[in-house]
Amino acid sequence: MSELIVIGHRGAASLAPENTLPSFDVAQKLNVQMIELDVHMSKDMQLIVIHDETLNRTTSGRGPVGAHTLAQLKTLDAGVWFKPEFRGSKIPTLEEVYAALPKHIGINVEIKTDVTHYPGIEAKVLNVVQKFHALHRTIVSSFNWESLTLMHRLEPKLKLGILMHHLEGKVWPMAGLIHAFSLHPPQRLVSSNFVWQAHSWGYKVYPWVVNDPGRVLKLGAMGVDGVITDCPQIITHYWE
Ligand code: G3P
Ligand code: CA
Repeated sequence: MSELIVIGHRGAASLAPENTLPSFDVAQKLNVQMIELDVHMSKDMQLIVIHDETLNRTTSGRGPVGAHTLAQLKTLDAGVWFKPEFRGSKIPTLEEVYAALPKHIGINVEIKTDVTHYPGIEAKVLNVVQKFHALHRTIVSSFNWESLTLMHRLEPKLKLGILMHHLEGKVWPMAGLIHAFSLHPPQRLVSSNFVWQAHSWGYKVYPWVVNDPGRVLKLGAMGVDGVITDCPQIITHYWE
């Protein structure tokens, strides 16, 4: 069990506004090994860390992320919707997150191209990873496997995580094609057999989103390599 890594989903989404620097800071203070975040692209082609395609749910803005410039996005509040004490939190860029986090923390960058197509986003993400010399501590994941295929062509050494909604047979040839590092299934779909099959091909298994400590134990018994969680505090507490 102690070998499981904890990946803070959108930082520590249960404790701080998701995908903001305060959320990543809380997660790293809770000793996660890695944080997960989501990346979209602004109108002026900057990498923006936010989950939804639109600004409506988690910011003071409205409309699609991609319809706004970085300067416009930086005027928005991304914290007060969660709790008043987070008023003034901004939407970060991917570069700002890499610059803010201690170098021992891994970063799982989810490229959000499953709904909106952002031409060129893959190369831009790679540029940031290279700029921060962070190839060794980055996993790029996506539900859009074409983005992962492109990432593999751009940099074969990049660790790639295959996100899935269903257990589809085609995950195995795809994982082979892109030399996947890890598979990221919804936690309800994980079984000992799935983990065994993944491990037999050399892939790590990081299920999402696991917020119940009892479930962490069960998944640990199935052999998963880590869990993606909104609640790193619960898991840390349970292990103590
Ligand atoms: O990486 C796992 C998880 O983040 C995928 O779903 O919608 O939270 O980005 P979502
Ligand atoms: Ca995500």
